[in-house]
Amino acid sequence: MKLLVIVFTLILFIQCSESRHTGWFPQNLVDAFTNRTSQITNYVRSKGRSLKQFYVENVRNKITSYLGFNQTQIEDRIDNQARIKRKFKDYVEDAQANDEKIFDAIAPEKLEYSCNDNDPSIHMTTPQLIALHGYVSESHTIVTEDGYILTVHRIPHSRNAKREENPRKTVLLHHGLLGSSADWIVAGPEKGLAYILSEAGYDVWLANVRGNTYSRAHVSLNIDTFAFWNFTFHEVSQHDLPAVIDYIMDTKGWDTKINYIGHSMGTTILFALLSTKTHYNKVLRAGFALAPVAFMTDIKSPIRLLAKYSNNLEYLLKLLGANEFLPQNAVLRWLSKHACEINHYEEAICENSMFVLCGHDERQFNRSLLPIILGHVPAGASTKTLVHYAQEIRNVGRFQQFDYGTEGNLIKYGTLSPPEYPLHKITLPIALFSSENDWLASDVDVTNLYVQLINPIEHYIVPLKEFNHIDFLWAVDAPKLVFAKLLQLLEEGVSKPFYNINTNTHDIR
Ligand SMILES: *[C@@H]1O[C@H](CO)[C@@H](O)[C@H](O)[C@H]1NC(C)=O
Ligand SMILES: *[C@@H]1O[C@H](CO)[C@@H](O)[C@H](O)[C@H]1NC(C)=O
Ligand SMILES: *[C@@H]1O[C@H](CO)[C@@H](O)[C@H](O)[C@H]1NC(C)=O
Ligand SMILES: *[C@@H]1O[C@H](CO)[C@@H](O)[C@H](O)[C@H]1NC(C)=O
Repeated sequence: MKLLVIVFTLILFIQCSESRHTGWFPQNLVDAFTNRTSQITNYVRSKGRSLKQFYVENVRNKITSYLGFNQTQIEDRIDNQARIKRKFKDYVEDAQANDEKIFDAIAPEKLEYSCNDNDPSIHMTTPQLIALHGYVSESHTIVTEDGYILTVHRIPHSRNAKREENPRKTVLLHHGLLGSSADWIVAGPEKGLAYILSEAGYDVWLANVRGNTYSRAHVSLNIDTFAFWNFTFHEVSQHDLPAVIDYIMDTKGWDTKINYIGHSMGTTILFALLSTKTHYNKVLRAGFALAPVAFMTDIKSPIRLLAKYSNNLEYLLKLLGANEFLPQNAVLRWLSKHACEINHYEEAICENSMFVLCGHDERQFNRSLLPIILGHVPAGASTKTLVHYAQEIRNVGRFQQFDYGTEGNLIKYGTLSPPEYPLHKITLPIALFSSENDWLASDVDVTNLYVQLINPIEHYIVPLKEFNHIDFLWAVDAPKLVFAKLLQLLEEGVSKPFYNINTNTHDIR
């Protein structure tokens, strides 16, 4: 989960990726905006971007919050036009009177840094970046059984390899909450896990979850509707992951043995899949879980602060926005304030969200990657997924399906509480990688998970105290501290096949 990255950077965040929504904001406001705030306009134009896109992507929540309207009201805007206009006029006048200050509130302070885009890679998509890094990539479109249209990226062979090559070993990488396929490559050819695996002889597939930058489409649902965003990691585990795995097998042959590597939510969905659709235990070859999240009893992330509201779904959805998770300033401030209390940072430092982002483990964070990371994160997630995680925290020690409340549960599951994921049904060999300074995957929780695995490979704890949740992706020393071990475990399975899960002779249960 990269919640922290997001939460703390949205304040200064200027999104450098492509437009995802259009037609959200009333055209006349966009026009007024264009007419009046030339400072912003010029800025946006100088970046070669459409103002409307900029507005829709980056400003809308802040403006909405400033205007004191909720999204529903804005969307049912018929009666509110006049009021919006008046408020907007006030806003613009404020902006002009206070010049830089208000401007900064809209286009965040670290603008020149985060979007100092002499570096074109900030705006590039995953396939473009892969090409920039000298590799060949493929994009595959997969439709899930419930109609979501996913894009999966693939790096079929190493940089210098010929196209015609011996069949390669297969690995599927799955990003975490708010992430995308870009997570595995933004660190560049030397440090990105996707490239390291490619050079090690793997055919690398990079998944994209429903709702993220590359999977924002559905055969029938409009992405601005709640029906589109009405999913949590459960639906991802039940539909997206099987669709991607089946697709790879379809493409490469049904004897293909896929190695699965997940980060954060990418591990949650693996556990949810393997415990419910158990035949995938036999389909995959092995699972490698980086910063695994299943039980959530010992959470330091500010997401825990949402937990106490997690039984009040209505309130949380109101607080966070019902569809896509795009928190407004007030929520961000609230969360970052609490994060600061945790860290005992001085207030002034807390206001600098960049510092909060680099946070605990500055040593491992490569600051020159920040612009490109901000260009790709957050890639999109449903609020409902966050609520689901918040519920896990509230229901200490239960790794379970979404809680719809007693009545809802009775209808949906036939029981008062939601069913737990039966982890004892997971027979796939699985290795866990965790670290001490992980706000989301603590020692206690990962250990508790490990002892429940029937076919554990190893629980590897990164030998660096400061190593944190996102360091698994981008840390300066991730290749040395994590990926080397990962490759070793991947390879060991080749020469010395994992214990045969079909015979089940070693089943400890
Ligand atoms: C822009 O401002 C001018 C003068 O204030 C006004 O006449 C015009 O209608 C405005 N245009 C828009 C699109 O609001
Ligand atoms: C959202 O999903 C739940 C559970 O699958 C379902 O019961 C409900 O009808 C859905 N709501 C909408 C608006 O799609
Ligand atoms: C938004 O405002 C409308 C109209 O006042 C209200 O019915 C609705 O409950 C509000 N929704 C949220 C999420 O605050
Ligand atoms: C930091 O990232 C930049 C850009 O990818 C790279 O050139 C540099 O080698 C990295 N530094 C370290 C210490 O990894």
